[in-house]
Amino acid sequence: MLKGKNILIGITGGIAAYKVPFLIRLLKKEGATVRVVLTPYAREFVTPLTLSVLSEQPVYTDFYNTTDGSWHSHIENGLWADAIIVAPLTANTMAKMVTGITDNLLLASVLSARCPVFVAPAMDLDMYKHVTTQQNVARLVEMGYHLIEPTAGELASGLEGKGRMQEPEIIFSELKTYFESAGDFKDKKILVSAGPTHEPIDPVRFIGNSSSGLMGIEIAKAFAARGARVDLVLGPTHLSAEATGITVHPVQTASQMEQACSRLFTDADIAVMAAAVADFTPKQKPTSKIKKEDGLHQIDLEPTKDILAGLGAVKKEHQLLIGFALETDNEVANAQSKLQRKNLDLIVLNSLKDKGAGFGVTTNKVTIIDRDTKPTELPLMSKRDVARTLVDTIKQIMK
Ligand code: CTP
Repeated sequence: MLKGKNILIGITGGIAAYKVPFLIRLLKKEGATVRVVLTPYAREFVTPLTLSVLSEQPVYTDFYNTTDGSWHSHIENGLWADAIIVAPLTANTMAKMVTGITDNLLLASVLSARCPVFVAPAMDLDMYKHVTTQQNVARLVEMGYHLIEPTAGELASGLEGKGRMQEPEIIFSELKTYFESAGDFKDKKILVSAGPTHEPIDPVRFIGNSSSGLMGIEIAKAFAARGARVDLVLGPTHLSAEATGITVHPVQTASQMEQACSRLFTDADIAVMAAAVADFTPKQKPTSKIKKEDGLHQIDLEPTKDILAGLGAVKKEHQLLIGFALETDNEVANAQSKLQRKNLDLIVLNSLKDKGAGFGVTTNKVTIIDRDTKPTELPLMSKRDVARTLVDTIKQIMK
């Protein structure tokens, strides 16, 4: 899978730099072309000579050759690479990447990249757990960088804790997995619904819920990262879902969401309905603001259409339909009955009893239920990892 791929390795100034030559060896053995860019401090930890012998390519640090003035183009680096891996990533370079500072060739190459960028942070435990670093890690992940989390163990300082760069074999296998799965949904059209809906009481007030849309956005991104064309029907949220391959269809109400989903489902191969759709909407929708002095003693509600059930009713043989179920009691049995009732291929069960699951958190704990096998209970994971696991499961049941 890595044969013929151009991999740019960026090394920053941390002691874990001494492990990177092993990573270069692994990539070269697999047939990848490896180019190395060092930050100025990285040169103190690992020599350009070692790296250029192993990569069989010149190794650069500066924007130009100080002797003959020849230009080392960061833009060409960014366009050349099929993947970039920054390992080790120091707290300093991480902070610069978050803010867009480009005061060396590596940072400018990363900012010019059109390919996925993997980062393998390495630093002392206190630096890693510092709130600034943690915020920077979260920002990088939000921006779409692939985080290869450091592990816990003995650090170069002699202290014990989280901050060790992952071993070269692990970094290598993350890259390999990425290239193995990239493009496996290339010709597929995916419909995803995400976020809450807002049901108007009058022009300025609404009934809503606290879904942020993150779970559905991560699902859309996980499909897009594997080459799919994704239509994301997104209720009101402050989160951005921009990514190559995703077309966002913003909606406000359950009725708008239903219209968009029904229309887009016609030529979708797979639909995942992750939105927290209001089950009821106010019957009356006054066009003027309700005045306090007029009073409001009661809001009459009427049921909304069940979008998922509607899609299940018209689903064709070649289409896959996946729903979510948010349950508090008899969770698995209730989810299984929803799976049957709504004619689904998979259902993702969220239990509100689980800590770290549901609305307003970046993690989730779900059980994936299909029609034939035993429910698969996943551990507490980031919503991004839940999304990736779900896409893997969908891949397995694809017709
Ligand atoms: N859903 C939908 N349209 C609705 C309500 C829900 O498409 N009007 C979808 C959700 O996107 C989710 C699934 O149905 O994929 C299950 O939602 P959930 O709230 O758990 O269940 P409901 O079917 O609404 O049933 P209940 O609230 O009675 O548990």
